[in-house]
Amino acid sequence: KEIFLKDYKKPDYFFDKVDLQFQLGEEKTIVTSKIVVSPGVEAGISAPLVLHGCDLKLLSIKVNGTGLKGEEYAVNSRHLTLSTPPAGVFILEIVTEIYPQLNTSLEGLYKSTGNFCTQCEAEGFRKITYFQDRPDVMAKYTCRIEADKTLYPVLLSNGNLIEQGDLEGGKHYALWEDPFKKPSYLFALVAGQLGCREDSFVTCSGRNVTLRIWTPAQDLPKTAHAMYSLKAAMKWDEEVFGLEYDLDLFNIVVVPDFNMGAMENKSLNIFQSRLVLASPETATDGDYAAILGVVGHEYFHNWTGNRVTCRDWFQLTLKEGLTVFRDQEFSSDLGCRTVKRIADVSKLRIYQFPQDAGPMAHPIRPHSYIKMDNFYTVTVYEKGAEVVRMYKTMFGASGFRKGMDLYFQRHDGQAVTCEDFYAAMCDANNAQLPNFLQWYSQAGTPTVKVASSYDPSSQTFSLKLSQEVPPTPGQPAKEPMFIPVAVGLVDSTGQDMPLTSVYSDGILQTLSSDGQPVFTTVLQFKKKEEEFIFKNVPEKPVPSLLRGYSAPVRLDSDLSESDLFFLLANDSDEFNRWEAGQVLARKLMLSLVADFQQQKTLVLNPKFVDGLRSILRNSSLDKEFIAKAITLPGQGEIMDMMAVADPDAVHAVRNFIKKELALQLKDDLLAAVTSNRSSEAYTFNHDSMARRALKNTCLAYLASLDEADVTELALLEYKTATNMTEQFAALAALSQNPGQVRDDALLDFYNQWQDEYLVVSKWFALQATSDIPGNVVNVQKLLSHPAFDMRNPNKVYSLIGGFCGSPVNFHAKDGSGYKFLGEVVLQLDKINPQVASRMVSAFSRWRRYDETRQALAKAQLEMIVSANGLSENVYEIASKSLAD
Ligand code: ARG
Ligand code: ZN
Repeated sequence: KEIFLKDYKKPDYFFDKVDLQFQLGEEKTIVTSKIVVSPGVEAGISAPLVLHGCDLKLLSIKVNGTGLKGEEYAVNSRHLTLSTPPAGVFILEIVTEIYPQLNTSLEGLYKSTGNFCTQCEAEGFRKITYFQDRPDVMAKYTCRIEADKTLYPVLLSNGNLIEQGDLEGGKHYALWEDPFKKPSYLFALVAGQLGCREDSFVTCSGRNVTLRIWTPAQDLPKTAHAMYSLKAAMKWDEEVFGLEYDLDLFNIVVVPDFNMGAMENKSLNIFQSRLVLASPETATDGDYAAILGVVGHEYFHNWTGNRVTCRDWFQLTLKEGLTVFRDQEFSSDLGCRTVKRIADVSKLRIYQFPQDAGPMAHPIRPHSYIKMDNFYTVTVYEKGAEVVRMYKTMFGASGFRKGMDLYFQRHDGQAVTCEDFYAAMCDANNAQLPNFLQWYSQAGTPTVKVASSYDPSSQTFSLKLSQEVPPTPGQPAKEPMFIPVAVGLVDSTGQDMPLTSVYSDGILQTLSSDGQPVFTTVLQFKKKEEEFIFKNVPEKPVPSLLRGYSAPVRLDSDLSESDLFFLLANDSDEFNRWEAGQVLARKLMLSLVADFQQQKTLVLNPKFVDGLRSILRNSSLDKEFIAKAITLPGQGEIMDMMAVADPDAVHAVRNFIKKELALQLKDDLLAAVTSNRSSEAYTFNHDSMARRALKNTCLAYLASLDEADVTELALLEYKTATNMTEQFAALAALSQNPGQVRDDALLDFYNQWQDEYLVVSKWFALQATSDIPGNVVNVQKLLSHPAFDMRNPNKVYSLIGGFCGSPVNFHAKDGSGYKFLGEVVLQLDKINPQVASRMVSAFSRWRRYDETRQALAKAQLEMIVSANGLSENVYEIASKSLAD
């Protein structure tokens, strides 16, 4: 059943207070809920009260203490309906029975490695008890947990612990009270055998907050970095946004089985292990960075999500886009801004652009859904964060802060919409952003075309901009959007020109205020076509467009190849330096793909090699920036630019360029590897991570040569590594080329780390993503490896998800990759529909390939949609993929 944003209606009843009681057991769990219900303002006396419920056994239902008679309520597989509730405030008491030990969907209350835990967002609370399971129903909760004391010594829920004690029969209980109103999706409960790392944080107003990270005792040493991250996040939010924590206790619980990354339940965040547990020996720099970002993200939700929440699930980007933006800024402030920006933009391009161009394209605020879980997407999260970033680009850091302050002043304790955020931003800055709300309702990545011209006689430089938003499913025609375009003009010596004034739409705008020269200005581009004319431009400049990636668009500029090489070498905006290199590489790769398809001999443009060589040799550049600047765009990015995606050609060309660069830059690459070795103990700071990033990137290039000396080097790196970042990079380098060296290294690595579940996941992922020919057979074999488990999402994402990330193997022309995924999806769907649905998404862009591949992929999708007992999750993705 499809649900539409336009059908939103306020609830007929509100829940003021909810008292929950859990009797946790091995065979069954009894949930008693006592709710104070009050009629909504607009409710007629006779409005029925409809509660959601799923997989529940109803034991009893009472209103004001009296059991209901059969005709007073109705139950089906989705709802419990009270036909004539009393007028005025009343008490509703419901007892249900549930079976967490059988719950493999990892939604609602379930067991993970013997412990009880919950995941309620988006609509999982209805698997715990009958409830108005929607975010605009906010209540104060208490939660009493009863369980066996030996099996479940730790009992946690939201808020403050107000009572605990022993019960007969070896049981004990704990009573928790959350003083803040919250929607049901923020409810959480944990019970089990867990140890904790404890620390504390004193807030800016002097509140002493106890911080605890809970995990099985043997993993406690691996929680130090997460604790550091939490304290850094608490401090950052006070400093940057003036936002302070509001309770005396903050808990994080680690569970191995979890569908998503983590969850921001009020004062009881729950994380999958990968995003908390780290030691230098077992986690990479990438893992450390992800932990910092996600611990920050979930903590930041306390204000953006919890204190101010969403009116309905269509507004998800209100909390997610904003909170991703906040975690990006946090990581940026603690690390290196340019490098973080490059990583975030790459993620957007690699994952979100394809979604925006495919059958699942949706605006950051979708108009409809079948299963909300399918809309926890890179569009809602990452493109949503870009939309928030545009407010900051328009209003500046202080204007953005004013908007945030007003947002909290107006909406603390409320469930609101994206328009409310927009209004707070605009009102706080006395501004209007015409056509900006289109970003919330139009899907598809806009293309911005730029034509530039210089007129020496009038000393003016003109930029003619035009925009085009492509049609997407259900949205054939689009309106122009508000696009902030940050621009600088670079003179022939490589310096930014001071910008004095710009003319557009009949208005001349003076740019330098208070006598300070301006080097970057943000053009407000809001029509289909618009011309911007810069005055007092003494020579023909090279424009640096969309600096810092000021809007999530595809830029199609008329810059020449030599302009791009010039920007790569000179632009003061480091993001655009990287970008110039990427544009050059994309053009180069596309033309080589055409050559490959026409069976021409491939030749690498020497200017490109020179450009990368000078970046590699430039010791004034940040090392991680260099690593990113010499990394080629991904295969997917290139396939996206082709009329018919050709995975074999793109793969061959990317490998050709890699090897050719390795060959021609071999001495520089070797020097970079040896000069960036270090015997220092592992530290998580930008300089050491940048050093390792550069060394590892160079090693990967070298190993692609498959020559004896570089293999020796990679083996040496592998054997002498003292941290996972370097050990794993060396393993990845060695395993690029099939053969005995690869097999031995993979076996050695497994033997060393078989008891470290997270490292074993990496080992699965490395093999799964491999481009070696015919890899589907290996992946098939790994499915029955003793360490693999279909019920653990981490392992599924590593092995199955990893496999779909290798275009040559997933899109193998014989259909073997498609057949493999088709079978796995049906098997997974029986266990965990959310995970199955994420996997089936790999099929969604099947129409981008040649006819043979199309037919093979389509056959799998048809097989899937016609399967018996298919979940709504998988059905939505598979059927929409076929329909487009
Ligand atoms: N709110 C969580 C986060 O982004 C994600 C939870 C998503 N859960 C789900 N079942 N879709 O921090
Ligand atoms: Zn989030």
